[in-house]
Amino acid sequence: MAHYLVTGGCGFIGSHLADRLLADGHRVTILDDLSTGRLENKPAAARLVVGDVADAAAVREAADAVDGIFHLAAVASVQRSKEAWSDTHRTNMMGTVTVFEAARTAGAGAPVPVVYASSAAVYGDNPVTPLGEDAETRPLSAYGADKLGCELHGRVAWSIHGVPTVGFRFFNVYGPRQDPRSPYSGVISIFAQRIARGRDLDIHGDGEQVRDFVYVGDVVEFLAAAMERRPRGAGIFNLCTGRPTSIAMLASVLEELAGYRVGRIHHPARPGDIRVSIGDPARLRAAFGMGCRTGLLDGLAATLDRVPA
Ligand code: NAD
Ligand code: UD1
Repeated sequence: MAHYLVTGGCGFIGSHLADRLLADGHRVTILDDLSTGRLENKPAAARLVVGDVADAAAVREAADAVDGIFHLAAVASVQRSKEAWSDTHRTNMMGTVTVFEAARTAGAGAPVPVVYASSAAVYGDNPVTPLGEDAETRPLSAYGADKLGCELHGRVAWSIHGVPTVGFRFFNVYGPRQDPRSPYSGVISIFAQRIARGRDLDIHGDGEQVRDFVYVGDVVEFLAAAMERRPRGAGIFNLCTGRPTSIAMLASVLEELAGYRVGRIHHPARPGDIRVSIGDPARLRAAFGMGCRTGLLDGLAATLDRVPA
């Protein structure tokens, strides 16, 4: 059994990953500054180091003698990256370089692999559908630019320092524990909470914009599988289903699952909103021999079931 560091392990995706690694019998250390993560997300059996992922000493300590690092800590809000450009850059880009640097010597002086979260935000407003990994990257936000920078440093980590890296470009991830409290939270977390409380849904634009929604359980499967393969090189994969779902359709399916309807409040489209964001999962499937397994209905039902009161 292995010992893994999960940065951001008190957050939405990181806590599901920590649960999964522990269930597989591994040891888990979490490094998290609890800025958006929550203590109640931390599995009891995980060791927690409260610290900043851009603080080299804190990362070195948390990564001491681990067999691999899952790097999920980031300021995941695009809006926040607009308001606090250099602060979010420090976490999102410097934090990643700090993790890659610690990975050089984390395994008793030898390099250990890093599996890390990139984002579909690297594609920005590229209108190609579906988006393959070789499509042009043209980020529209500091968040997307930093995620692209992480990928470039991921190549350097391998080519210059011998640290194997695997970056996953997550599309729209959803599932239990996703925080619905900000207006910029994921649409599914907001809709699920509104419907559970019998409240109307805000629809920005005509509702026909489409997204590629990925269930958090599938994300965790690929993260764990990437590490189990003892990666070499510097890989980049879309983590997506390739299936489009419109926002209007999403609202109807959630209502159907809940067994009742709520109203719609229509708003103008959000400035800069992307009309279509669908990934091509071909490279992912070819490399891992599997695709995302959770259908939208099952994933939404699991999410609705676990909306906090
Ligand atoms: P989240 O906010 O729930 O988790 C991020 C975690 O990182 C939190 O626990 C937070 O406290 C921690 N963190 C933030 N800054 C830190 C710092 N300076 N030092 C240490 N810890 C810090 O978000 P999430 O949705 O679970 O996102 C996980 C990863 O996936 C992020 O890298 C995010 O950019 C990426 N991602 C998420 C989505 C999505 O749809 N949720 C899409 C694309 C990419
Ligand atoms: C997502 C990511 C963002 C990333 C971008 C591109 C999240 C929370 N955001 O943004 O980090 O940069 O992909 O990869 O994962 N909507 C409504 N009503 C609501 C909330 C949202 O109609 O109450 C609409 C939005 O206008 C948008 C769609 O739903 O058209 C999806 O919104 P959201 O979940 O915020 O994600 P993205 O905009 O795709």
